[in-house]
Amino acid sequence: MPSSLKLDEPTAPAAREALLLKYEHIRQDSELICTPLETEDYGIQTMPDVSPAKWHLAHTSWFFETFLLLPFLNTYRCFDARYDHLFNSYYLTHSQPFSRPSRGLLSRPTVAEIYRYRAAVDEAMLELITNAADRQWQEIEPLIVLGLNHEQQHQELMLTDLKHIFAQNPLRPQYRDLSPPPLHEVTGISWITVDKGTYDIGHSGTGFGYDNEYPRHQVLLQASALASRPVTNAEYLEFINDGGYKNPALWLSDGWALQQIHAWHAPLYWEKRDREWWYMTLGGMRPLDLNAPVCHVSQYEAAAYASWAGSRLPTEFEWEVSVSGLPVQGNLRNTDYLQPVAASDSSLLQQCYGDVWEWTASAYAPYPGYRIPEGTVGEYNGKFMSSQAVLRGGSCVTPADHIRSSYRNFFYPKDRWQISGIRLARDL
Ligand SMILES: [Fe+2]
Repeated sequence: MPSSLKLDEPTAPAAREALLLKYEHIRQDSELICTPLETEDYGIQTMPDVSPAKWHLAHTSWFFETFLLLPFLNTYRCFDARYDHLFNSYYLTHSQPFSRPSRGLLSRPTVAEIYRYRAAVDEAMLELITNAADRQWQEIEPLIVLGLNHEQQHQELMLTDLKHIFAQNPLRPQYRDLSPPPLHEVTGISWITVDKGTYDIGHSGTGFGYDNEYPRHQVLLQASALASRPVTNAEYLEFINDGGYKNPALWLSDGWALQQIHAWHAPLYWEKRDREWWYMTLGGMRPLDLNAPVCHVSQYEAAAYASWAGSRLPTEFEWEVSVSGLPVQGNLRNTDYLQPVAASDSSLLQQCYGDVWEWTASAYAPYPGYRIPEGTVGEYNGKFMSSQAVLRGGSCVTPADHIRSSYRNFFYPKDRWQISGIRLARDL
């Protein structure tokens, strides 16, 4: 078992009760996210990276069924043995997963059947959490906690995937009505210094952390400075209007090639209507909020912007050192804006948590001494440490209790459908 999955809590009844409440809350939360959906919305897949909402609902249940109920609850009978193929995502040491780009073809099982699957899994998980023998508890509790964190990751994916799904429909439907964002006028960027020195990086060991946040280790940093807030839509518009997408000198070679192929000329979901920029939100099409952080840019666009601005992207270590010690608060999913909004706080370093995942310049690589956890759950993170980049800080659709300073998200540099934005850094 990886150090990230070790328990700090005793196997007291109160700890079980707390975990049960958390289980019920997080499982219900996934279904609440789907409340605004019509049945027709549940099955659509618009690209290989996007999964249908009903697949997310089933896959997160499969995780509990596969890693907890079947191995640990003797009385549990598999809900439907065929689901193991359909809803295994990528655990090749377990079984052969169904083709990812074809998830949108799964008109069956129906949405109603998937909700029945979820209910059956929840009923059995209630029994397991309540009645598991103490000698089993040390083994199952870390897996339950992992399953709940996994479900929260899929909650975020459900929302980003639904945004992509609705954005492909010429009607540009709303996911639901959103509260109007606060209309602050943001101030100019100031620069927050990171002193040259040796710093501890990685999870401190208190509370849950994924294996990729371990082990904690030391990193030597040169003197640098981080921008006080992310780049806004207004600032990104200046880059566009200055020919940023037409100047190869600003671009990494792979990024230039890709934007030529796909004719990128603005962030994903931006549309020009009567000479005004609009963009797709989960509340439908809206005029561009110039003061809000720019989002839905690839790492290539982020790097090109930084180059244009005479800056660079921060490393994940500079980001973590700057943010450690700040309270975990911001425009996360609990604010319910479900889109990035203009900075409103006056702290030195603003919008570190929430609003947009911040691209870093760091490759998603194992920390020194990292070991892939034993067993099938070892496939969770480690095998993806190739050709991807680290993003930090969470977004406006990240659950508020799911983010921390050591959290390492990762996507390919080309990816744009996540709520990814830009914070600049500079050498001193
Ligand atoms: Fe998953």
